Amino acid sequence: MRRRTFLAGGGLIAASAGVSYTLLRNPSIDLADLSQREQLRFPEVIDASKTGKIPLQAQAGSTEFIRGVQSKTLGFNQDYLGPVVKVKNGSYQADVTNTTSQPISVHWHGLIIPGVADGGPHQVVLPGQNWRPEFEIKQDPSTPWFHNHVHGQTASGVYAGLAGGMIITDGLDDQRGLPSNYGVDDLYLILQDKTFDASGRMVYRPGMDGMTHGFSGDSILVNGQMNSVATVPKGIVRMRLLNGANARIFSLSFSDNRPMHLIATDGGYLDTPKELTELRLAPGERAEILVDFEDGNPAMLTSLPDANSGMGGMMGRFQRFANMVGSPFEVLSFAATDDNPARITKIPKDLAGNMPSLNNSDVTLNREFSLEMGMGNGMMGGGMMGGEMAINGRSFHMSRIDIGVKSGDIEKWKISASLLAHPFHIHGAIFQVLTENGNSPRAENTGWKDTVLINQEAEILVRFNQRADVKSPYMYHCHILEHEDQGMMGQFTVS
Ligand code: C2O
Ligand code: CU
Ligand code: CU
Repeated sequence: MRRRTFLAGGGLIAASAGVSYTLLRNPSIDLADLSQREQLRFPEVIDASKTGKIPLQAQAGSTEFIRGVQSKTLGFNQDYLGPVVKVKNGSYQADVTNTTSQPISVHWHGLIIPGVADGGPHQVVLPGQNWRPEFEIKQDPSTPWFHNHVHGQTASGVYAGLAGGMIITDGLDDQRGLPSNYGVDDLYLILQDKTFDASGRMVYRPGMDGMTHGFSGDSILVNGQMNSVATVPKGIVRMRLLNGANARIFSLSFSDNRPMHLIATDGGYLDTPKELTELRLAPGERAEILVDFEDGNPAMLTSLPDANSGMGGMMGRFQRFANMVGSPFEVLSFAATDDNPARITKIPKDLAGNMPSLNNSDVTLNREFSLEMGMGNGMMGGGMMGGEMAINGRSFHMSRIDIGVKSGDIEKWKISASLLAHPFHIHGAIFQVLTENGNSPRAENTGWKDTVLINQEAEILVRFNQRADVKSPYMYHCHILEHEDQGMMGQFTVS
């Protein structure tokens, strides 16, 4: 019998049980162990680029995350999570059916489409109902996703499985020299963390700590699987990393420090790959990287603990980002084999990405946003007292439009975060990060973005070119889902 480890009160306790959780496993690779592991699976692809149709059915099901134990889950077209919807620029009709017993919505996170089709809190699909938005996709190749966005139930719905991936392609990846063989050298990786009870069932019980810091689980799932292994060709492999966790911020690196070549951010390709040994990915963000497995050695993608959910209160969290402490834990292991020949063996030099090049002279209006946790800036006894989540002193309200923006405008938003680092997301728009705490942005934030981690303060230049009226406004919010549900969200029109 193996041992199961839990994170409790900042320490490790071991309990005997039949499973071994991913989190806190020692990130050293045991080859014998790797060969015993389950192969990583990839979501089925719906190739909507051929049909123009995006059929999604929200359904209840059960999933065996831990052998022999069924957990109640939700998914789209399947028991847990959804398919990967592949699109190219063109017209689409989605067909969303809700066969669950709770209201759901499907927000297309990363699609820059009109408010009526956005799938936010105003486009709820009640049980037994159907929603059929039509929209035109006209944007750069990238990796968006979709997820539930019912106000107050986003955290629980996404946690239960109401999320899925998307790929926007222009069919030119061969010309770019990029891997594009889905599930072989182009891997869609949905990173999440979950908690399982003593019997091995997935549970969502955020409690006071989870409501304030955002919920963190004690186990890591990739594409809904725990402790799996991805088998890759001995060449260049592309990973589309999607942080689909409720609150966990991943600080990713390979245990052997092999480079990660960043090729795309939320909104599309960079102009050239950027070599990184650590990549930070906050909830809602996506990053595409290339990793070289030519040496044939097994490798392990690891993460450092989330500086937002550390021990010892909130004091010092900002510093912990600057000087991360704690041991890395496993996210996913890779075995390089000859099962599939390597198609790509070189990191391309030029991606000809469409890099943001806005500047201050383009700005039509300046705004400031402060992401607040209801305590002012004070603290009591090193912990939060369960105050209100808000932006600029106001907690989200469905019937209050917070701002109005003009289509075609470029606005400069200065966003500041109190107490924790908060991933800030804007619907229906795309932005360039101008500064982070007064400095030029980190590599992860140099391309087009729709979500950015605010660790103290950032300035962004936002481009608005789609419309949203008062009946179906866009949202801006913290993508720590517990914060969003508790009101760290506002809404805006674009006219
Ligand atoms: Cu990914 Cu408004 O959310
Ligand atoms: Cu969004
Ligand atoms: Cu937040």
